[in-house]
Amino acid sequence: MGDSTLRFIRDGYLFGTRGFRAAGSDHFRTRLLGRPVLVLRGAEAARFFYEGGRFRRAGAMPRSVLTLLQDVGSVQALEGEAHRRRKELFLGLLRGESGEALAQRFGEELRGAAGASDGADIVLLDLFHDVLTLAVTAWAGLPAGVAGDLRRTGVLAKMVDAAGTVGPENWTVRAQRSRAERLLADAVVRERTQPTAPAGSALAVVATYTEPDDIGATAPLPPQVAAVELLNLLRPTVAVGRYLTFAALALHRHPGWRDDIAAGDGAAVRWFAQEVRRFYPFFPVIGGRATRDLTWKGEPVHRDDWVLLDVYATTHDPAIWDQPDRFLPQRFDGLVVEPNTLIPQGGGGYEEDHRCPGEPVTVDLIEVGLRLLAREFTYDVPDQDLRISLRTFPARPRSGLVVRGLTVGERAAA
Ligand code: HEM
Repeated sequence: MGDSTLRFIRDGYLFGTRGFRAAGSDHFRTRLLGRPVLVLRGAEAARFFYEGGRFRRAGAMPRSVLTLLQDVGSVQALEGEAHRRRKELFLGLLRGESGEALAQRFGEELRGAAGASDGADIVLLDLFHDVLTLAVTAWAGLPAGVAGDLRRTGVLAKMVDAAGTVGPENWTVRAQRSRAERLLADAVVRERTQPTAPAGSALAVVATYTEPDDIGATAPLPPQVAAVELLNLLRPTVAVGRYLTFAALALHRHPGWRDDIAAGDGAAVRWFAQEVRRFYPFFPVIGGRATRDLTWKGEPVHRDDWVLLDVYATTHDPAIWDQPDRFLPQRFDGLVVEPNTLIPQGGGGYEEDHRCPGEPVTVDLIEVGLRLLAREFTYDVPDQDLRISLRTFPARPRSGLVVRGLTVGERAAA
């Protein structure tokens, strides 16, 4: 079996799709980075991969990706009861009123930042990254010095941007990440001795959270682990800037939706946000290592075998989605979304499996952004390179989406 690493680099997000086509199947075996791997797509595959604790994450992603996007010692690295317990911490912060507060804060900051713009050209991706950093650090209750540092260095966005890189760029951002971790660990230690963060904020909750340690006594998280979990809330929130930029691009490409969204059609904005997450590329694949001997459609999968679930190919799988390569928000009209079909943020369930706990708030953030873009913001989109390379992880419109003459105020159509 030949090694497909070069093909992965060349085909990018389409690596799996082309492999499935060549194999005439929804799974194929190959080698990546010299290691044998089974690549899967589809709703059944997502259920197999996500549900029932069949795959662990440890040892399943290259280190360059792992250290920037996933987190050693964090919820993603845990399995079973330890994972379920830690996951509750995230779900408590990201669902209900707390999650809504994050989305609301983002809306206020975005309106303010757009209103303060002086008519100069603005790169929306950069604006979203900056405003999300501002919103999430305030929401998390971080001390002003730490929040200011994260904003000034732009490290949260850089971690996302550099996740698909190797070599010097990746190392530089890893060093910046280490510094951010130290700042956050110090903030946790200070919060434990002199609490200043608002009750219920992420810093207060993570700093005071306890779980059984190795000998069964209850203990707070080591500051380093607490810092990593805080980063696990901060960085992916900033990553939503890509979806917001894709949402703005989709509005530009499909202007007919603008009036429905501006008119406050709640269903239209929800379908549009879901279609943005289905259609545009983000995670190409998710890797797992089998926790026990398994069989997939007659194929043996031995304990520790490496399996990749192709997320992009599943959200573009013609067996699930009609005309998968067209942007059609109306496909969600009346559709009951089965959890293992729309999987840009993972499959399975929130509590037991590794499905992204930030998924509901991601949808809310996109909706908040869409409403502002459609209803309150007026701008032009000058000529620019809006192509999205499917060879760059994570993908983005090349120009970042430049808008001109941004002003804020109720649009006439609303
Ligand atoms: C751009 C939007 C986002 C995308 C594309 C995304 C994608 C994903 C994916 C694919 C997973 C599953 C990884 C796996 O199976 O190992 C995941 C897990 C996770 N995400 Fe997100 N995510 C996003 C936003 C968020 C947000 C806003 C937060 C928190 C504020 C968040 C926090 C997490 C955490 C903590 C996990 C680990 C869950 C676990 O292991 O149980 N994500 N995300």
